[in-house]
Amino acid sequence: MKISKVLSLCTLSATVLFGANNVVDHVKQNGIKAIPNSNYELLKIIDDPKDPITDAKVELGKKLYFDPRMSKSSLISCNTCHNLALGGTDGVSAAIGHGWTANPHHLNSPTVYNAAFFKAQFWDGRSPHLADQAQGPVQAGPEMAAPPKLVEERINSIPEYIEEFKAAYGDNVKIDFAKITSTIAIFEKTLVTPSKFDDFLNGNNNALSKAEKEGLEVFLDKGCAACHNGIALGGTMQPFQVAGKYKFAQVGDFKGDKNGMVKTPTLRNITETAPYFHNGAIWSLKDAIKEMGSTQLGIAITDAESAKIETFLKTLKGRKPAISYPQLPESTAKTPVPDAKL
Ligand code: HEC
Ligand code: HEC
Repeated sequence: MKISKVLSLCTLSATVLFGANNVVDHVKQNGIKAIPNSNYELLKIIDDPKDPITDAKVELGKKLYFDPRMSKSSLISCNTCHNLALGGTDGVSAAIGHGWTANPHHLNSPTVYNAAFFKAQFWDGRSPHLADQAQGPVQAGPEMAAPPKLVEERINSIPEYIEEFKAAYGDNVKIDFAKITSTIAIFEKTLVTPSKFDDFLNGNNNALSKAEKEGLEVFLDKGCAACHNGIALGGTMQPFQVAGKYKFAQVGDFKGDKNGMVKTPTLRNITETAPYFHNGAIWSLKDAIKEMGSTQLGIAITDAESAKIETFLKTLKGRKPAISYPQLPESTAKTPVPDAKL
């Protein structure tokens, strides 16, 4: 009697385990990966041994990220459009930058959280990595509108910044535009947000509820992971309007890269990053999911299925790194003054 009870318990836990493994295996077969839970494994993915992540660089990069003096007007920082308190975005359809100018292609600000995992940066994927990427917005007219020379002058006019660059890179550091922007990129690499979905993939079967696992299965069965895969569940170039025309294609003039490919947005923290799509034309996540069915998969996704997928997508809301708002070093008499004119 006792033995058979033990045996039946064993079978029970075996099925539970087997069931869990099945879902995890299914996820992995679809090319989706967890954010590693060991720092060592994570660094293997995001760190560059030629310019390694150190506390001094991260702290300095954070200051520059929050410093509006990186812009011509001295009013706009990276955090203006990639607000770390708002899921790394600005919450408006088209980004608004220098002189209250909207992005000329009506492009929406993507999140910077987990951008270290993307294979391509920008909606048309024109930038391969974060250090290169960060040079773009500082100079772009409708964003921060600051020529490299102005940024170099501003930073080099502030002795405290010079000291911090020396502490981070050694006394011979040349504080040029490339160094300033690559330091910001090192800070961005730390913006990684593991969620309960990662806890689940990393072995905690109870991290997801039954409904969340069911939503995950619907997500996989519909074929969403064909493009939303990897650690970011996005971040690669994929064809767009594969099966049907995007309902708001007429908003802005963005057509993808030269082959019509578009950078697949990450689905991590997706509940925090509305509005959706390259032109920020869709505000509800439910509608975004249904639009993916018609444009990318050629299927009609019902309200009930969309709700299930949404239940899964909510599990991708991650734990944000604690970021203390930095005190920035003071300008000096030599610091070029703000210029807010167009
Ligand atoms: C005026 C708003 C604005 C400012 C300021 C701004 N960005 Fe962006 N950022 C955008 C928009 C819009 C895009 C997409 C542009 C495109 O694809 O052509 C973008 C793209 C990015 C991306 C690519 C992410 C992806 O998923 O492709 C990263 C990373 C990024 N910005 C970081 C930064 C950093 C670092 C700064 C400060 C140096 C900065 N941004 C300043 C609006 C802004
Ligand atoms: C063939 C590739 C592909 C498939 C399949 C696919 N997506 Fe996408 N997804 C994309 C691309 C590319 C975009 C960006 C399109 C744009 O904005 O121009 C996108 C955008 C999204 C967005 C908006 C994200 C944002 O931040 O703007 C959501 C949400 C989304 N997809 C969810 C899904 C779901 C759920 C499925 C399955 C029902 C799915 N996708 C299937 C490639 C794909």
